[in-house]
Amino acid sequence: MDSKDIGRRDFLKGLGAIGGSGLLLSTFPWLQSCTAKSQNEIKGEKAKIAIIGTGSRGKYHINNLLNTPNAEIVALCDIYKPHLDEAAALCPKAKLYSNYHDVLASPEVQGILIACPLYLHAPIAIDGLNAGKHVFSEKAMARTISECKAMYDTWKRTGKVLYIGHQRLFDRKYIKAMEMIHSGDIGDIVGIRNYWFRNNDWRRPLPNPSLERQINWRLYKDYSGGLMTELACHQLQNGTWVLKALPDYVMGSGDIVYWKDGREVYDSVSVIYHYPNGVKMTFESIISNKFYGMEEQILGHNGTIELSSGKIYPESVPPAPGILQFVNQIEHEVFDNVAVAGTSWVPESASKNKGELIVANAVKHDGASTVGAVDDGSDVMVAAFCHSVITGTQAKNLVEEAYYSGVLALLGLQAMDEKRVVEFPQEYKIPYLNFV
Ligand SMILES: NC(=O)c1ccc[n+]([C@@H]2O[C@H](COP(=O)([O-])OP(=O)(O)OC[C@H]3O[C@@H](n4cnc5c(N)ncnc54)[C@H](O)[C@@H]3O)[C@@H](O)[C@H]2O)c1
Repeated sequence: MDSKDIGRRDFLKGLGAIGGSGLLLSTFPWLQSCTAKSQNEIKGEKAKIAIIGTGSRGKYHINNLLNTPNAEIVALCDIYKPHLDEAAALCPKAKLYSNYHDVLASPEVQGILIACPLYLHAPIAIDGLNAGKHVFSEKAMARTISECKAMYDTWKRTGKVLYIGHQRLFDRKYIKAMEMIHSGDIGDIVGIRNYWFRNNDWRRPLPNPSLERQINWRLYKDYSGGLMTELACHQLQNGTWVLKALPDYVMGSGDIVYWKDGREVYDSVSVIYHYPNGVKMTFESIISNKFYGMEEQILGHNGTIELSSGKIYPESVPPAPGILQFVNQIEHEVFDNVAVAGTSWVPESASKNKGELIVANAVKHDGASTVGAVDDGSDVMVAAFCHSVITGTQAKNLVEEAYYSGVLALLGLQAMDEKRVVEFPQEYKIPYLNFV
């Protein structure tokens, strides 16, 4: 057993579950395949996987799968030869394809991993499920809400395994944080703030101008939902995960503020998801200023958790000694504005509380990489997929979490595109928690 294997086997144990790993699994049932018992069940077996889309994320998954004891990459497929060649160099024994239908026709392939541009997720996943393959598709679930639903319906009908690549569901920091949130450690949840700031144009270099849309697909509406489907869908998952509720309405504004280079998708978005109890979840993203990086802040009346940093900040910190309070008041010129001696207030200022790590050795994700971060759950997720392929067992609740993240991202996009308040459409509610 190599060191990675040991890490995976100890995945649940390493979390130090508050109520033991049994309780952890009832709250996060998609982690079932990560238990030592589940891993032992498939010892020596290999899931035969085809990678469809061998661009940057596809190669990242290949590298993780090459370190997964229960994975065998048997096929690679891409329409762009340079990417296929790069992937072939990583897996010299894999068969090479340029048409994904030929991959689906291969009896050797048990599971497909789709790392293609967003607009292809639903068509390839649906064809894959209908061809009897187990499917892992990258996030966001699909380009349109009706495609998300069609993918969900096909999954239900075929009974095959479906994973959508939301790696936060397998990230130690997020799991521990959710456990603490649901145990009441930060009290009632009163708000969720998500933001993702970068400073780059999101463009890839072109060997030939005719390949602009094929290579820079993220910038064009036919292929991508821009910041909402590329970034927000990860963070909007917090709405369902934290609040266990659906928003009743969504509003927002999107614009191209800085990168006016012919792209069609917004480079600046601000969206509010309003929940029936009045709690709001926000998502803000700008890709021409990176100062604040990326974070997801869960605000409770007793404390705050920052998911990306993996830190908790209790709301009440010991009061500053009298002299510090006095210095603070002078610094804020409190006395300049108070006519009579004494003061009854100080200006609100951000807490200086440095917080405490919620899991040991957590790696903070700064959101800068367009490929993938270190220790972000992606390796655990593809290993879990291999377990599901070998055993034919679906990771419970994973599709539902991914479905709602994808739909929330697309509803936010719709609100911005149509410049109106959008209500959650009844026809797109699927059975999960108490949503229907
Ligand atoms: N989960 C994450 O954190 C994360 C991170 C990065 C990317 N992604 C997702 O991964 C997916 C791919 O992103 P990327 O950055 O690797 O894009 P990319 O452009 O680098 O790679 C996409 C690949 O798909 C290939 N392709 C296009 N049409 C095809 C077809 N019909 N058949 C086979 N291959 C085809 C392209 O030639 C390209 O090699 C996107 O959905 C993206 O959102 C997820």
